Amino acid sequence: MRHFLDTVDLSRKELARVMELATQRQETLGWPLADYGVALIFEKPSNRTRQSMEMAVVQLGGHPIFTRGEEVGFDVRESVEDITRILAGYHAMIAARVFDHTVLERMASLNDVPIINMLSDKSHPLQSVADVLTMREEFGSLKGKTVAWIGDYNNVARSLAEACALEGAHIRFGCPKGYGASDIELKRIEALGAASVVQVASATDAADGANAVHTDVFVSMGQEAETERRLRDFAAFQVDENVMAATDRDAIFMHCLPAHRGVEVAADVIDGPASRVVRQAHNRMHAARGVLAFLCEENDITKGDTK
Ligand code: CP
Ligand code: NVA
Repeated sequence: MRHFLDTVDLSRKELARVMELATQRQETLGWPLADYGVALIFEKPSNRTRQSMEMAVVQLGGHPIFTRGEEVGFDVRESVEDITRILAGYHAMIAARVFDHTVLERMASLNDVPIINMLSDKSHPLQSVADVLTMREEFGSLKGKTVAWIGDYNNVARSLAEACALEGAHIRFGCPKGYGASDIELKRIEALGAASVVQVASATDAADGANAVHTDVFVSMGQEAETERRLRDFAAFQVDENVMAATDRDAIFMHCLPAHRGVEVAADVIDGPASRVVRQAHNRMHAARGVLAFLCEENDITKGDTK
């Protein structure tokens, strides 16, 4: 059974297939989820992920059911395994946003229904599909382009790096000491097919000649207790005009959102002409539709009888 817990669950060819499906609409995709439900469980808040996934399920003929994490209570109200087995009787797939990535792994290991990661402490693969879709729209292909990540090497960074590596891009990380990728992690990303992978401890050095500059919050959901220390440690890593001045002339700025103007990004940059954040957010829906359609294809889910 095929799941989508990490971007690298896809091969390079499969990521290209997801991209292809993401650009298709109902006329070609049909209604593979007709008569099926998809459970969407959120242990953390969401705007884009919930809305885009619900709409993508509807666009494929299915019925999304949203539930807050505390209502199902993973390992509190009942075990992750019991929750998964029960929901698998109602739904074609289960998607979850969780604090602990191993919850998703336990769900997937049952192989009852495909499991989709809607963000964990480790990764955010749906976001990476939308990011690649947005950059492909801009550059045609990412092969040989330079993608800079400035800030925290977090869940979004890891998935984006995996996707960019599969696409053959040059990847630059500009992270404060202690918040970057480990040497093993840098080698792992390079081995996925990146043209090159470099990590520096300066935002402008990372942005030098880049075609796309990405950032994200300095304090992710679940890290609120570290806010004071993180804001201090990341103070020199705001993507501002100086950082954008170091990039390629036609470089674009991207952020998965929600954003904090004046913290990780200057208002002039996120609201300026180089910013693609709205398009990027809108592409979350197309990316979600591509991923769902791909999992339907791979797992032989076609318009069927209710279970
Ligand atoms: N980028 C993203 O995942 O946004 P939400 O947290 O609003 O879903
Ligand atoms: N890194 C952020 C992404 C939010 C979409 C977080 O995990 O909170």
